[in-house]
Amino acid sequence: MKKITGLVRQTILSVLLFIIALAAGSPASAQPPVRTLDINLAQPGKAISSDLFGVFFEDINYSADGGLYAELVQNRSFEYQITEQLSWNALTAWELTQRDGGRGSLAIATAVPVHPNNPHYVVIEVQQPGGGVGLVNFGFDGIPVQAGEQYDFSMFGRQLFTGNHWGGNGVLASPARFVVRLETKEGAVLGETTVNISGRDWQRVAATITATNTDSAARLVVLSQTKGGVALDEISLFPRKTFKNRANGLRPDLAQAIADLQPKFMRFPGGCLVHGHGLDNLYRWKDSIGPIEQRRGQENLWGYHQSLGLGYFEFFQFCEDIGAKPLPVVPAGVCCQNADNQGGTGQRGLPLEAMPAYIQDVLDLIEWANGPTNSTWGAKRAAAGHPESFHLQYLGVGNEEHITPVFEERFKMIHDVLKAKHPEITVIGTVGPFHSGEDYDAGWKFANAERIAMVDEHYYESPEWFLNNLKRYDAYDRTKSKVYLGEYAAHEGNRANTLRTALAEAAYLTSLECNGDVVRLASYAPLLAKERHTQWRPDMIYFNNTSLQLSVNYFVQQLFSQNQGDVYLPVTLPNTATNLAVSSVRDSKTGDVILKFVNVGAEVQPLKMNLSGAKKLAMQVARTVLTGELMAVNAFGKPAAVVPQTSSLTVGEKFDCELPAHSLTVIRMATR
Ligand code: AHR
Repeated sequence: MKKITGLVRQTILSVLLFIIALAAGSPASAQPPVRTLDINLAQPGKAISSDLFGVFFEDINYSADGGLYAELVQNRSFEYQITEQLSWNALTAWELTQRDGGRGSLAIATAVPVHPNNPHYVVIEVQQPGGGVGLVNFGFDGIPVQAGEQYDFSMFGRQLFTGNHWGGNGVLASPARFVVRLETKEGAVLGETTVNISGRDWQRVAATITATNTDSAARLVVLSQTKGGVALDEISLFPRKTFKNRANGLRPDLAQAIADLQPKFMRFPGGCLVHGHGLDNLYRWKDSIGPIEQRRGQENLWGYHQSLGLGYFEFFQFCEDIGAKPLPVVPAGVCCQNADNQGGTGQRGLPLEAMPAYIQDVLDLIEWANGPTNSTWGAKRAAAGHPESFHLQYLGVGNEEHITPVFEERFKMIHDVLKAKHPEITVIGTVGPFHSGEDYDAGWKFANAERIAMVDEHYYESPEWFLNNLKRYDAYDRTKSKVYLGEYAAHEGNRANTLRTALAEAAYLTSLECNGDVVRLASYAPLLAKERHTQWRPDMIYFNNTSLQLSVNYFVQQLFSQNQGDVYLPVTLPNTATNLAVSSVRDSKTGDVILKFVNVGAEVQPLKMNLSGAKKLAMQVARTVLTGELMAVNAFGKPAAVVPQTSSLTVGEKFDCELPAHSLTVIRMATR
């Protein structure tokens, strides 16, 4: 087991002073002296992970449905249930509408579903068509539409009866005609189309609506114009414009904000979402692929519904689109230790006799992602439109499990098979929810015994904690498992995304770069949070239906990720430089050297840089600075208080520069 030992005494002193300076409102003791930093650019340096900075997407805070997934209809499959929210039922987000003398009713049925994985559907009975009888959907806090944009509508339907009620002769006189409209909440029409449902078998119909006006909270209205009964399901509306124009795609602004981070990998679909509320709530990847009407949506343990419309195919496709390596996480055959939908029983394991089938599911995932198109699961990937491999390299098994014999037995079963059959895959194990303690210790002991390639550490702590632990990984044993810091964030007491938290994270990231030989991957958590639907703070990106706000922490992530290197160049910081954290990396592809400085002090820090060994140093380089009031936040709905500013800096073998108070500075220099 690894131990966090060996903190150098001087370092402790430095770090303590560093923390004191970072504390809100703490005045700087004195104008800091000029610091001289020497960096030898010709040294071979230390190879570090080129995948270090990535993102972690979990469907928490309405990140998927109502968030990144561009579907505009809420509860499109009529699968919402009281078990998800006490006020919910299959018609949540829907309402009966009877227009201009129209008379009819809605009911939920399950007798002949469009697919067994999608059991509920709605039956509209129209007794008197009038101006139409049907459904209104309110979207996720309304449906945002923009004038001139196209919206792709589709639904599944089948006729049940026409004319008289169930006692009728069953003759289908004519198709059921539907008017499909976008309307304001006052009922003004924003665009419409028509579709016909014809016959007793389920069929998919589709049409496009072009919006004539902009409305941030429109409704979708589906109005039957025909007397009789019709079953409808999977009623969907997508903006034509999705990220990279993918079908069943992603909301462009949110997807772009993630892409702009230039993450080297993306972990998905959770978090606790993976191991679920109970054994019946494990995230089963196979339920998330294939036609959307055949996906088995389920309760989301964060208190809502997951349609799985954003499923494994979409995750892998998104990773490819943004140049991030996919890092799926599968359950380790156990549910969450905090599971409470089984009478508070906590962690439970799949029955041992169910494990072979479960392990086969995991093997099938690898075949689905990487296998040839003539393999069973590779063929399914190809049929979905992606014959090429997705190049799966990393696979997480488990999420911050309580390390028990039940967990260990099942993890080992999965791991042994993966090691034997897929040595090319880096399996990532888990060492509990905290940076230390029982599960951390037991997890590391188990990882060492089982020779797990990498383990996933999680911690959410105060800014002070992060600054106090800048040397955490210095003492990690390089011969043992590598580390994926899968979840971390610095938390204020009030959970605000202050510059203070972001600078503590930035300082920590310099230490991850320094230890990038053992810490191979790192991702802030959580990534996304929808306004008024947030279960967890702080988060990296806040959004509502029409806009988003990038937190200060986002910009720290972005500056590190966009300026990642694969070689660490040691830089010596005087012990007395108590308010500074510094890192220096080289990107061997471009030859660029990137310097990062975190000044947590309340005073400007003057620097004298001595760079030796460069073949050539570009004279004008880009300097990007993130700075502001220590407790500043980029509040939702207001102009961002803290954003990076880039300017030009003249550099040479020797140059002077100043680090503003409370700042992260990134200097990127071409050396070839
Ligand atoms: O990131 C939010 C949650 O924190 C994750 O789901 C879980 O892994 C951790 O406890």
